[in-house]
Amino acid sequence: MSPKTRTVYRCTECGAEHPKWAGRCDACGEWNTLAEEIAAAPAASGAARRRAGTAALGEGGSVAAAPKLSEVQGSEARRWRTGLDEFDFVLGGGIVPGSMVLVGGEPGIGKSTLLLQVAARLEAAGHRTLYASGEESPLQVKLRADRLGEHAGGVSLLAETQLETILATSAAMEPRALFVDSIQTVFTTDLEGAPGNVGQVRECAARLMRFAKESGTAVFVVGHVTKGGGIAGPKTLEHIVDTVLYFEGENSLDQRVLRATKNRFGGVDEIGVFRMTEGGLIAVENPSEMFLSDRATAASGTAVTALMEGTRPLLVEVQALAAKAGFGTPQRVATGYDGRRLALLLAVLDKRAGLSFAPLDVFVNVVGGLRVQEPAGDLAIAAALASSVHDRALAHDAIFLGEIGLAGEIRPVSQAERRIAEAEKMGMRTVYLGARAVPRRAPAGVRLQGVATVGELFTTLFP
Ligand code: TYD
Ligand code: MG
Repeated sequence: MSPKTRTVYRCTECGAEHPKWAGRCDACGEWNTLAEEIAAAPAASGAARRRAGTAALGEGGSVAAAPKLSEVQGSEARRWRTGLDEFDFVLGGGIVPGSMVLVGGEPGIGKSTLLLQVAARLEAAGHRTLYASGEESPLQVKLRADRLGEHAGGVSLLAETQLETILATSAAMEPRALFVDSIQTVFTTDLEGAPGNVGQVRECAARLMRFAKESGTAVFVVGHVTKGGGIAGPKTLEHIVDTVLYFEGENSLDQRVLRATKNRFGGVDEIGVFRMTEGGLIAVENPSEMFLSDRATAASGTAVTALMEGTRPLLVEVQALAAKAGFGTPQRVATGYDGRRLALLLAVLDKRAGLSFAPLDVFVNVVGGLRVQEPAGDLAIAAALASSVHDRALAHDAIFLGEIGLAGEIRPVSQAERRIAEAEKMGMRTVYLGARAVPRRAPAGVRLQGVATVGELFTTLFP
């Protein structure tokens, strides 16, 4: 370690700094929150500086160039496209030189596969790439590459976990893109903690970021996700990087969704949809089709809605099952939908539409591992619930758009036209939506059915 730095322990909860490690932070009282960190050595005290007769302001600094905005070179056009269209789209139109991207996801979801494909595509386009793997041996990576339908032979491989070596190699090789798989396996010798601990993860990420900015290399970092759904290591990791992508999906299914939760160079909440195949990941051009492909259209308890994922509409199927409860408190289980929102919806349906769930267990599921976070999905959930209670299937070519208010009223959704257009594209013929928000014109062959309240929806569906 250079003499200018020292090691401190910082509480990951309250940020208090401690000179020594302790089991408990005495500033906030939390246990096991202290993480090792490198700090700059304290400068000489003000009194000492005054005695030495130097000006305190700006001391130790040097004058740096501060160009006018109009003089700053470069343009948006300087992005590298991988040709893996959904990936480029989620990034905002390709890879930005000098940017740092964190790719998070559960183990086995396909992060390494995705990045190896990206590396292969960059190589094919004539960009040099370096893939540093701390999780797999070169042979393992090669075997994976052989399975892919891409020519990954040009990708340079580094089986290394020491950050200093990775950075030195990268500096010497000058790749366009550096891949670090994963941030939890790399460590810097400047810190004593084991790889993967909070201090190591943060310090390594900060240095990789600095490397990206200084060298113009695009740096991709894999991060494993904890049970809570966050990227292991501190939340601050997400603050350090430019872009955070989450790779999601059911491990057992082949659908994968890449979602930008933060993006300094593009829109957030944009998603890209992939299919995991024997030959690696394939971008899905028509995600709605994929998410609706396995529908059991004649079954009760399923309904379709259109969500806005970033700037693109996406049709998804929601399922509900209301079954006689055994004994004790009836269960309410929601997957892909907020549990409290479900409780609220059940109360509204009971009070405003006379649909009682008190003796019933209620299960709600959003198909394909997607999440319905938009209130626009309420109407579809309500329709699916009612369909399950009455055990009568809904029309297979109907979709539901609307937020349900506490009075049982159906509220309008944003960008209704775009959702309706997507529905039409997917062969939907009836759109149920808030009565006050019915657009004046509908695509040919689509009927817009306005409903003012949940009660009215139910009498329309089940006369
Ligand atoms: P991987 O990229 O190793 O996941 P992560 O890095 O997120 O832990 O993906 C592993 C899974 O993907 C594994 O179950 C095998 C599967 N897979 C395919 O189905 N097809 C392929 O071409 C490859 C390379 C992997
Ligand atoms: Mg991996």
